[in-house]
Amino acid sequence: MKVLITGGAGYIGSCCTEILSKTDEVVIVDNLERGHLDAIKGYKFYNVDIRDKEALDKVFKEERIDAVIHFAAKSQVGESCEKPYEYFINNVYGTLELLKVMVDNNVKKIVFSSSAATYGMQDVSVIDESLPFNPSSPYGETKCMMEEIMKWFDKAYGMKYVALRYFNVCGALDDGSKGEDHRPETHLIPIVLDTALGLRQKLQVFGNDYNTKDGTNVRDYINVVDLVDAHVKALRYLEKGNESNFFNLGTTTGSSNLEIIKTVEKVSGKKVNYEIGPRRPGDPDTLVASALKAKEVLGWEPKHTLEDSIKAALKFKENYPNGYSK
Ligand code: UFG
Repeated sequence: MKVLITGGAGYIGSCCTEILSKTDEVVIVDNLERGHLDAIKGYKFYNVDIRDKEALDKVFKEERIDAVIHFAAKSQVGESCEKPYEYFINNVYGTLELLKVMVDNNVKKIVFSSSAATYGMQDVSVIDESLPFNPSSPYGETKCMMEEIMKWFDKAYGMKYVALRYFNVCGALDDGSKGEDHRPETHLIPIVLDTALGLRQKLQVFGNDYNTKDGTNVRDYINVVDLVDAHVKALRYLEKGNESNFFNLGTTTGSSNLEIIKTVEKVSGKKVNYEIGPRRPGDPDTLVASALKAKEVLGWEPKHTLEDSIKAALKFKENYPNGYSK
């Protein structure tokens, strides 16, 4: 298949490009606002913003795309609370334009990067797909809205989609050649790694009075290679003519923030300098996925352990101590 990857120069998009290009033809569009050219060297790339319908339409006409994997989005929960306009205009309006261009070009298969942030605060800590949307940030709200829009595009135009609701994505390609480079970095694992490597002096653990095993937040860390594998399986699922669907992607295991620090210390052989700080607003105690549905329907199961992910992320940091050049 010829697959258009939106946001292909980002963390997950670039890992997906590398893996999917082994079996399929890939074309990337990215506006490079957050993505890195360094991460997509050698791949067919268009510097296009998905909100630019004309430019996007040209890409579809030139490339004769069969299916889309849609990663392009702003994705920081905290930032979205401060700048909701940026999130709705980029994520929701951008997706609407992408879907319209797809319909105009008779492309009717899309794998969509959704998020556990669609669930927000729930009364249960192990989250399955039967739970209703309850986003607690504009970011999460945009992901809910985009899933809803795709549902109506399916009804109106037969656009088939798979929405993949990621929990906490982590790690890098196993050889450390592609990985996570956010600026500024807000995610726990890269921050802990930077601290272990002396690139940061100290890190703050946001709260230790939560109702969890050690008082710190518990999250479900899913390896990026396993995550990409789910996208490939979702693509095949759509290729076979199956109905639209949505799945959680996680490991069904939670790790606390302190456990992450301990694992980084073990893998790197270095001490991590940390202090306990105040809670970060909006952090739920525990977020763990039930990923049974993805196993049953897509035949997907994560294979990497947390240690595997941290080893790969450490290799990436060693390869790119200052991140990608851009
Ligand atoms: N944390 C710290 N110190 C830091 C950074 C993070 O203690 O310097 C803690 C957070 O408070 C949280 C945990 O580490 O308890 C994980 O935080 P991240 O920011 O790495 O990830 P989140 O769980 O907040 O969010 C991530 C993605 C979202 C996605 C969500 C779904 O960033 O896009 O997972 O669960 F929606």
